[in-house]
Amino acid sequence: MKILVIHGPNLNMLGSREPAIYGTTTLESLNDLLETEAKSRGVSLDTYQSNSEGELISKIQHAPQLYDGIIINPGAYTHYSIAIRDALSTISIPKVEVHLSNIHAREEFRHRSVTAGVCQGQISGFGTHSYLMALYYLVELCEAIERN
Ligand code: DQA
Repeated sequence: MKILVIHGPNLNMLGSREPAIYGTTTLESLNDLLETEAKSRGVSLDTYQSNSEGELISKIQHAPQLYDGIIINPGAYTHYSIAIRDALSTISIPKVEVHLSNIHAREEFRHRSVTAGVCQGQISGFGTHSYLMALYYLVELCEAIERN
C-alpha cells in the first residue's frame, strides 16, 4: 500500500510560522514522523509540498497511478480553490483532508472548506496528530478496498 501526503502553501514554513497556532514541529520532522508511523504499519508513504495551485493539481491528477490514498492539507486553498476541489473529485482513490489548527474556531473565512466535501472526511485541530489520525483511518480504508 502506498499513501501520498500533500502539503499546500506555506506549510514549508512550519516550525517558524505562527508557532502559537501551528506548533514548533518543522515540515521535515512531521514528514519523518509520518514515514516512521507508516513504515511500522508496513505502508509506504511519500510526502510532497508546494506553494503553487497548479503543481498541487498536477500531483493530485497523477496520484491514482502511484498511490492508494491521499492525505491533503490544502492550506489556505482549502477555503477557496474550486480548482483543487475539482482535481480531488476527479480521482476516485480515498482522500482525507487535514488541518493542524481547528479551522472552525478561527476567523470566519477559514470556517468554510470547499475541498472537504469531495474527501472522505476532514480532521482539524489536533496539530500533527491530525495527520496521524488521517493515516490510521486511510490505511484501514485502503485495506478494506483491497479486500473487496
Ligand atoms: C491550515 C489552516 C488554513 O486556514 C491555513 O491557511 C493554513 C494551514 C492548517 O493546517 O491549520 O495554511 O490548513
